[in-house]
Amino acid sequence: MEIDNGVVAMVDILSEDFDPTAVVAEPLPPVVTGDSNGDLIGKVAEDLKGRKREIVLGRNVHTTCLEVTEPDANDEFTGDKDAYMAGVLARYRKTLIERTKHHLGYPYNLDFDYGALSQLQHFSINNLGDPFIESNYGVHSRQFEVGVLDWFARLWEIEKNEYWGYITNCGTEGNLHGVLVGREVLPDGILYASRDTHYSIFKAARMYRMECVKVDTLMSGEIDCANFRAKLLANKDKPAIINVNIGTTVKGAVDDLDLVIKTLEECGFNHDRFYIHCDGALFGLMMPFVKLAPKVSFKKPIGSVSVSGHKFVGCPMPCGVQITRLEHINVLSNNVEYLASRDATIMGSRNGHAPIFLWYTLNRKGYKGFQKEVQKCLRNAHYLKDRLRDAGISAMLNELSSTVVFERPQDEEFVRRWQLACQGNIAHVVVMPSVNIDKLDDFLNELVEKRSTWYKDEKVQPPCIAADVGTQNCLCGKHK
Ligand SMILES: Cc1ncc(COP(=O)(O)O)c(C=O)c1O
Repeated sequence: MEIDNGVVAMVDILSEDFDPTAVVAEPLPPVVTGDSNGDLIGKVAEDLKGRKREIVLGRNVHTTCLEVTEPDANDEFTGDKDAYMAGVLARYRKTLIERTKHHLGYPYNLDFDYGALSQLQHFSINNLGDPFIESNYGVHSRQFEVGVLDWFARLWEIEKNEYWGYITNCGTEGNLHGVLVGREVLPDGILYASRDTHYSIFKAARMYRMECVKVDTLMSGEIDCANFRAKLLANKDKPAIINVNIGTTVKGAVDDLDLVIKTLEECGFNHDRFYIHCDGALFGLMMPFVKLAPKVSFKKPIGSVSVSGHKFVGCPMPCGVQITRLEHINVLSNNVEYLASRDATIMGSRNGHAPIFLWYTLNRKGYKGFQKEVQKCLRNAHYLKDRLRDAGISAMLNELSSTVVFERPQDEEFVRRWQLACQGNIAHVVVMPSVNIDKLDDFLNELVEKRSTWYKDEKVQPPCIAADVGTQNCLCGKHK
């Protein structure tokens, strides 16, 4: 072999008994035994029994894992392994049914029927690359993806030839993309986000090493535009990249987009010196149908909007939608010869099944169907808030929201049974289309009954949550 300057390199000659099809004799790697892991497992098991859960940083917990075991030599004849796996799956299915019945705390719509799509399970559908440019990989679902994107573009009022977007893996990916586009358009911009913003925005700031300014929030959880103004004025020399929440994670608060834009303009930021990303992960598909809600529209000076597909829409796998202006996308895209496509997404391979699920639901429900579901959710959320208050339980519901915030239940087992999301002294229920009045009644009756045991002794009192929801919504001993 000749390399530079005619120097000949020594190359190993393959021995005569080299067999290119040979495989390693013993493919099973040995089990790695950790020294202190045994202790830890014991401790966690004890914690689980005692219903205490602890986040152990730097260590992974394996107590509940389903071990992968090597097939026995005669499994193919006995069918033992298949029978074992079928048993595991059947038990898992039962758990899922039970867990679905008692789910209230996360904003997932668990009510759907995608039976018609089971015929597609046998295909490895991958939309790698750009939705609008066909790649060389033919087993894709771009035609569904672009149909879904067009639907959302219409919802958020942007012309087909003016937008770019894609079906993401989740709301977080939409946020990572939105902030990235903002950073590429305004490279020295400061990222502004309210304190109640989802952690994915702060993750983006860390990933992209961006300067990030946290803005205070009002009691409702909305961005405090007076504080925003002060922070903008203190950094007038740098462009602004702003995350606007269309539904915050904990309180379901909707930032006032129009007031954010007005504040920017009044502080002297021209439209080419700010970029707004709207995080509509939670309520992005609900707000357009609520009469009094601030309208998310590309007719306004916004740069991008994202929404999660597995939340209100009700997709059985995590996914999301991200829409931005086409003019911005050229700033961050590269052509990739290997794909014969353009690379403007965050991920490489992309789930090609998700767009089909979204397409199916959008077709079945349509704008009218979603409107009806939004109405039902808001009505049921009011029902829950009113019944909590009637039972003497502190509770708050933002006007445009279906997230009911209330006192954190005292008992961790109850929290886990209903899969409530908690933060400090508060918990919440996010009323999604799968949460009907019967489910809320079951939950309320159980909560009221349990509370009578938790607080039967005068010495233990329900928590005061005035600092989170305001004194008018708090029914603790001091504020009722
Ligand atoms: C406001 C908000 N943004 C972003 C996200 C992240 O969405 P995902 O879980 O789809 O990544 C969430 C999740 O709950 C959220 O509440």
